[in-house]
Amino acid sequence: MNREEARERIGQLTEAVNFHNRNYYELSRPVISDYDFDRLLEELIRLEKEYPEFSDPASPTQRVGGGITKEFQQVRHTYPMLSLGNTYSVEEVREFGERIYKLLGEETEYVCELKFDGVAIGLTYRDGILVQAVTRGDGVQGDDVTTNVRTIQTVPLRLKGRGYPSEFEIRGEILLPRKSFERLNKQRMDEEEEPFANPRNAASGSLKMQDSKEVARRRLDCYLYYLPGELPFPTHYECLMAAKDWGFQVSDYIVKCRDIEGIFEFIDTMNLSRHELPFDIDGIVIKVNSLKQQQQLGYTAKSPRWAIAYKFKAERVRTKLLSIDFQVGRTGTVTPVANLQPVPLAGTVVKRATLHNADNIAALDLRKGDTVYVEKGGEIIPKIIEADLSLRPEGAEPFMFITNCPECGTPLVRNEGEAAFFCPNESGCPPQIKGKLEHFISRKAMNIESLGEGKIQMLYDNGLVKNVADFYDLKAEQLLGLEKTYDATEGKKEKKVSFREKSVENILKGVEQSRIVNFERVLYALGIRFAGETVAKKLADHFGSIDQLMKATFEELKEAEEIGEKIAQSILDYFQDPKNLEILGRLKTAGLQFEIMEDQRMLKSDKLKGMIFVVSGTFQQYSREEIKKEIEDNGGKNAGSISSKTTYVVAGDKMGPEKLKKARSLNVAVISEQEFLDLLK
Ligand code: IVH
Repeated sequence: MNREEARERIGQLTEAVNFHNRNYYELSRPVISDYDFDRLLEELIRLEKEYPEFSDPASPTQRVGGGITKEFQQVRHTYPMLSLGNTYSVEEVREFGERIYKLLGEETEYVCELKFDGVAIGLTYRDGILVQAVTRGDGVQGDDVTTNVRTIQTVPLRLKGRGYPSEFEIRGEILLPRKSFERLNKQRMDEEEEPFANPRNAASGSLKMQDSKEVARRRLDCYLYYLPGELPFPTHYECLMAAKDWGFQVSDYIVKCRDIEGIFEFIDTMNLSRHELPFDIDGIVIKVNSLKQQQQLGYTAKSPRWAIAYKFKAERVRTKLLSIDFQVGRTGTVTPVANLQPVPLAGTVVKRATLHNADNIAALDLRKGDTVYVEKGGEIIPKIIEADLSLRPEGAEPFMFITNCPECGTPLVRNEGEAAFFCPNESGCPPQIKGKLEHFISRKAMNIESLGEGKIQMLYDNGLVKNVADFYDLKAEQLLGLEKTYDATEGKKEKKVSFREKSVENILKGVEQSRIVNFERVLYALGIRFAGETVAKKLADHFGSIDQLMKATFEELKEAEEIGEKIAQSILDYFQDPKNLEILGRLKTAGLQFEIMEDQRMLKSDKLKGMIFVVSGTFQQYSREEIKKEIEDNGGKNAGSISSKTTYVVAGDKMGPEKLKKARSLNVAVISEQEFLDLLK
């Protein structure tokens, strides 16, 4: 075959494979056998390999996968991926309508859609060709999963028709239809692998797989529902219809409504017929149709004001409670988990349910042999709602909470006013040690990508890393050739891994690079109980350095925004433990960032420098969060409670009378939203 013939044959094969794909997937009417189809596809793959100059970015061979992604690249979203405000009550849907009418002062048309229960995705097309697919991630940046998304039959690789912008993004949801989900779980159970809890998890897990060939086998599906950015249409509905013409899969269950009654009708219809859909939905999304009105309404910090999600109430089933397990988490918290007689619920098989804590077990008054009602809301693990007393065996004994840690035997403790028991053996309890190490290197903390769960396990097992400071003392010669044998999955061949030069180099480089991670993330990385990402940021902003934070008294800690007694106490406890002080000392010596850098915060102005604000109530023009952000952006500080140090209380509607009284008694100025905005002028 010469070049010209090859080019022609590639063209023919591409057309044929596309034709058969359409028959198979879209029309469910295949006209050739799987065997013949595979032969065509294989020939095309072979020719594309031989003549790469003729291969097409939209070739159907892209659909079969084959590309391996070792690590997904992080990509910043052009438009942040926001979430939707949601509600379970039709009353609040009515209020949403009223709010919009008030804000716009004119009638509005709405579009009602399905709320797909899958994984959000943003697809970018350049000149009609799919160039990038990015997951939501934290809303600001997500994972580039393009190779995997290309395998999804319903995602067009090349657009049809015309009129699409030369470059644009379209957003939607990747989901696993229930049938494919069941098939996948059956296969997993046959292979003695843990089944996925629900189709959403399965979709999300599939999307993150390294081997795109495996992704292709999973039969994911994709529906598109939103185009961010400038568009050549006046309404959302027209955008979606255009998207359909360009070849995107857009749901047929979309209606335009002129009033709230129309919305209710759609909600009722879908609530009844949702189980007939081939995939899960968890509600309805209601959007303002006019893009101009959408723009007028704008966004709060988290979600658009022009849309709301109405979520269906959770479904419940009855099943038998078999036993209770106790799991020890990263911070030592012991969580009871119920093992249930497997039972189908809302499209999945439920085997376990969270019991939260000892109080919850007591409140539910669970007894051995009980039959219980289980409910599943949006969360992955279902909840036990109540025991069916009519089915309780006579003389059934209550479940007792354990008194000692199931991992290390240490007697469990519970702080006053707290629901959870925890194992206090922070530095000696294996899941806590490993949890602390994993947390330390995680993306939002020190982001040491060259280390992961498996490598940490190896380092821990070999006694090289027992606490986070040990990472910074690692030497190449300790790591080279380090070996571990483990069975990958039960019943499968055991695997032997050892560190090679390249990976040792990577580990040390990753550790080295983490020295520049900023203070708020270092603080978060330390894993102080209750000091999550937000709290760590607030503490870093308020105190500025670890030295100031260490000096802070209980009262001073509580003055920082969002810091209550529980968090304040936990911080005091952390700094009282000599082991922690030793680790901090070593981390300091290693050169980690323990103070905030002034230029780290890009201030809009320093108009509010030296001022401390307490923001309370609800506001007209901005959300509370927006006002707080404005304060920080202009050099001020937010505090959670009023004290003599407070400069201003910014009071909105519904501010509590207690706060007002306190402000008055301390002679703190109380200002309105407008007065606050005037301060910035
Ligand atoms: S519109 C700016 N439409 O629900 C708002 N989202 O809880 C863009 N979702 O992040 C989202 N179905 O992942 C929209 N028909 C639909 C949806 C939908 C499901 C997801 C989406 C979003 C989340 C919000």
